[in-house]
Amino acid sequence: MRKIAILTSGGDAPGMNAAIRGVVRCGNAANIEVYGVERGYEGLLRGTLRRMDSRSVSDIIQKGGTILKTARSSDFESEAGVRQSGDVLRAYGVEALVVLGGDGSFKGMRDMFNICGIPCVGIPATIDNDLAYTDYTLGFDTAVNTVVNAINNLRDTMTSHDRACIIEVMGRKCGDIALYSGVAGGAESIVVPEHKHLVEDITNKMKKNAIKGKVSDIIVLAEGVCSCEELKSQILEKMGKNSVVIRTVKLGYVQRGGSPSMRDRVFAARCADRAINLLDSNYNDCRVVGIQNGQMIDMEINEALNMKNVFDEELYKIANKLSF
Ligand code: F6P
Repeated sequence: MRKIAILTSGGDAPGMNAAIRGVVRCGNAANIEVYGVERGYEGLLRGTLRRMDSRSVSDIIQKGGTILKTARSSDFESEAGVRQSGDVLRAYGVEALVVLGGDGSFKGMRDMFNICGIPCVGIPATIDNDLAYTDYTLGFDTAVNTVVNAINNLRDTMTSHDRACIIEVMGRKCGDIALYSGVAGGAESIVVPEHKHLVEDITNKMKKNAIKGKVSDIIVLAEGVCSCEELKSQILEKMGKNSVVIRTVKLGYVQRGGSPSMRDRVFAARCADRAINLLDSNYNDCRVVGIQNGQMIDMEINEALNMKNVFDEELYKIANKLSF
């Protein structure tokens, strides 16, 4: 491959810019020209591509978001849309595509390969950490650290007022952000979609902790279970309206922005290098890169997307032991 394009798609994730920089510079080092597509698949349809050289990615490694911008495109979901995008790439003489995103973005990439025959490589970038084939996705570490900082701040004020706090975090149907931030933030309860949630488990713990003199409770709730307001009502119904003061905080998009952590920047560099190594050969495939047991890997897209996400039960058990 001598000419490739890169796009970011779906929700942005800290570390996307570091990965764009990595692809451009590793690409240039291998004498591969790189084009940046603006606004994900939407931009591909509209032909908004620009040539990127090493200087064009200066001073972005530390920035959150994505300089290429991102979008969720419904036009691309049709076969006609995919064909049109393939025509745009051919018109620019682009031979392959690198996609940064989550499972929805990877499905678009698979269509691009199946329908237009354009080889593709996917880099896992989503704060949700919900791609089964890789132990880790770009942006997850930064997002979790943002949540942990929020928990620290909330703990201060909740303890001062003897209040409980429910913190709702992102993750779609995956409880990883809640689990890891809950453990690192010392949460009393962690509520995730992977486990049936009984409100009694939370209220019994709150009562026991109160007897032992613990006056603030931090409950980290994954958005895939219910909203923080719903959980608050359930708890108050069980415990009685006047027995406890509960505040709710939905962290929302705060956890998706911010300067990427060291771990995300290094992972971005490794993914970019792996992607370019694949493309700098006789490559005619659609594969995703990732990490398994500390080793960088790449895998055929269907195999990767068919894998079922495994929740870290061991860490969940540890969290329960630590919360009394
Ligand atoms: O997939 C990343 C994510 O941030 C999820 O955690 C969240 O549910 C969703 O995107 C929000 O999407 P949008 O930006 O479309 O509101």
